[in-house]
Amino acid sequence: MKEMSKKNSGSEKSAPKVTISVIKADVGGYVGHSSSHPDILKKAETMLAKAKQNKILNDFCVTSCGDDLELIMTHKKGCDSRDIHGLAWKVFEEGTALAKKMKLYGAGQDMLADAFSGNVKGMGPGVAEMEIVERKSEPIIVFMGDKCAPGAWNFPLFKMFADPFNTIGLIIDPSMHDGFKFEIHDIKKDKNFMLSTPEEMYDLLVLIGSAENYIIKAIYTKKGEIAASSSTQKLYLIAGRYVGKDDPVLIVRGQSGLPAMGEILEPFSFPHLVTGWMRGSHYGPLMPTSQKEANPTRFDGPPRVIAFGFQVSNGMLVGPRDMFDDPSYDYARKQANKIANFMRAHGPFEPHRLPLTEMEYTTLPEVLKKLQLRMK
Ligand code: F6R
Ligand code: MG
Ligand code: MG
Repeated sequence: MKEMSKKNSGSEKSAPKVTISVIKADVGGYVGHSSSHPDILKKAETMLAKAKQNKILNDFCVTSCGDDLELIMTHKKGCDSRDIHGLAWKVFEEGTALAKKMKLYGAGQDMLADAFSGNVKGMGPGVAEMEIVERKSEPIIVFMGDKCAPGAWNFPLFKMFADPFNTIGLIIDPSMHDGFKFEIHDIKKDKNFMLSTPEEMYDLLVLIGSAENYIIKAIYTKKGEIAASSSTQKLYLIAGRYVGKDDPVLIVRGQSGLPAMGEILEPFSFPHLVTGWMRGSHYGPLMPTSQKEANPTRFDGPPRVIAFGFQVSNGMLVGPRDMFDDPSYDYARKQANKIANFMRAHGPFEPHRLPLTEMEYTTLPEVLKKLQLRMK
């Protein structure tokens, strides 16, 4: 039996800290809301390369998931850094200007504020960040979703960090046996609190099972080390109107006392139902694909998730490895297509269409107003 994993466990106390920031925005779709234009990605790459040259960033990776521009950055400035958020905002601003020039669809869709005010949170873009002390080897996976909401991570995060039927390490690896702490965000009341597993698993599930209300914001080891961090903002709560689904991002650290890469990826072998898809107003299966295949077209979907793996090495990103570019996810994709057919057959009926309170587009007030005179 494996002894408490010593080779990579714990942090190297003397090692410097590095921050991983994943900041994303939809600055314009190509074509419609289905994908991103290569010129926008090129622009972002040039800007981040300059920031790396100027020592603002250690390293970066630019990619897209559907119509979302994804900036994966490492640096030494900590979470919520004005410099890093300002840099991302500038990239999105210039991306928007280019998108407008090409008349890409919904140019500047996620740029809800007129001017940058220190932090992109609450201004439209999505953010997941963590500051870490690099272990001897630091494997991470960055998940990026399109046509779905931040609650999409609740199910897989629970499976990774609390479900022994998914993560055998919880049972047979002594360094994981104590369980984990979950930071929950009540997005409607804007309040955060912690719950511990396995002790409070049932309390956790009663909340996170309602993924439109309670979102897993972060996960920590019982010793307090960060293990996962997600983007939790809800655009429509910020904007007060429909502005597209939030298309969330998530950073997960793995191995050596944390879930193994395979345990982190395993939950996505089941394409669970998430909110989003067409007009942000439907339930549909979350389909895991390679980055190249993350261009949702059928009924503007079905929702996609991609996974970029990296080895973080002295603040640099060794990678990406496109983790779902693997035939072992073929069956999940096939199943997602089958579920998509089944859900689509409901047309405008619930539970394919979201309940009235959760729909992001609605004609209900107008219809009720029109009918008021006829009502008895
Ligand atoms: C979903 C999404 C799309 C649009 C749909 C209609 O997140 O972005 O499904 O909602 O294509 O878009 P508009 O209203 O811009 O024509
Ligand atoms: Mg869009
Ligand atoms: Mg999108």
